[in-house]
Amino acid sequence: MSLPVSIISQQPISTQQPLTLGVGTVTALAPMQDVTDLAFMNVIAEYGCPDYFFTEYFRVHETSRLDKPILRSITENTTGKPIFAQMIGESIPDLVRIAKLLSHYPVAGIDLNMGCPAPRIYRKNVGGGLLRDPDKIDRILGELRANVAGRLTVKMRIGFEDTSEFDRVLSLIDKHDIDLLSLHGRTVKEAYHGAVHYDAIAQAVARLRCPVLANGNVSSASTALAVLTQTQAAGVMIGRSAIRNPWIFSQIRQALADETISVVTLGRVRGYIDRLYQMSTAQAVPEKSQVSRLKMYLNYIGQSVDAEGGFLSEMRRAKTEVELFDICDRYLLTEPQTVFSPEPYPGIFARPKCED
Ligand SMILES: Cc1cc2nc3c(=O)[nH]c(=O)nc-3n(C[C@H](O)[C@H](O)[C@H](O)COP(=O)(O)O)c2cc1C
Repeated sequence: MSLPVSIISQQPISTQQPLTLGVGTVTALAPMQDVTDLAFMNVIAEYGCPDYFFTEYFRVHETSRLDKPILRSITENTTGKPIFAQMIGESIPDLVRIAKLLSHYPVAGIDLNMGCPAPRIYRKNVGGGLLRDPDKIDRILGELRANVAGRLTVKMRIGFEDTSEFDRVLSLIDKHDIDLLSLHGRTVKEAYHGAVHYDAIAQAVARLRCPVLANGNVSSASTALAVLTQTQAAGVMIGRSAIRNPWIFSQIRQALADETISVVTLGRVRGYIDRLYQMSTAQAVPEKSQVSRLKMYLNYIGQSVDAEGGFLSEMRRAKTEVELFDICDRYLLTEPQTVFSPEPYPGIFARPKCED
């Protein structure tokens, strides 16, 4: 497999050509609400930038305006990589209105969220809830396509309760000339549990004209290669494992180029934790909030620190900055050359608020 080749520009989308990902394999950081803000994207870019970013979702309803903090991840994006603006909603005039507003900013395209599995979201028939209503998807994509001059992309799951409508939804992706599909290979009801159905992703790749990014449990460079081989996708989109291991995108590039994959040590991970903390202290919030924000990231990082899960259970009990960093130092700096496991240790789970 060859290296990523397609770098697309960051002009307002109305001036851009349709998306072609080229012949290379690409990587993207998955959108994650309350995680993938401007500061976090900058940190990720320092450790090994993905080829594409996606914003957290802009909520779209009758009175919605562009959320300013999310907008900053577009207007102040200095990573050099394109960013797609994601929207979540079901009101067609408002989706069109917000998409048009977003088109004036330097986005790579407009992305529609059709995957969020949080019940309070899907009950409003937005996010993953849309997958129950293919007729509505048809109308939404038709109107957005007619009104968005640039790229229109979709991020979705393989169904709501089951995959009975999957084929129909794929035909709508083709019908409306969607430029890129990011596909999480689980149903909405499966949330984050159980195996990812990579066979369904392979089915979408074989069926669709547009490129597909395979998403769901891509946890290391070797998993990425296996998923790419199985699905033949144009690339991989990675969420939680990029929080755990921000070197993952550069490791994937190494693996694709048949180079030796760099080893990450616990000492380097300790540096990454400092970097994450600096990021939240820069935001002038009380120590308690900074500590709980860092713990959110540590929930993922801790999956690869020790096989017994000692780091995770101790850090979850820490209350102050001093306590938390003492635990980090003990687990990560006592033997800093120890390898940080490329995969999460079996049976060690992150337990943060998990919603999309
Ligand atoms: C904390 C969190 C927040 C998320 N927020 C979003 C979101 O705003 N939009 C979206 O399309 N998906 C969201 N997702 C889903 C991810 O983009 C991704 O599809 C999912 O985590 C599976 O990929 P992974 O196994 O690589 O993490 C979120 C996931 C998590 C864990």
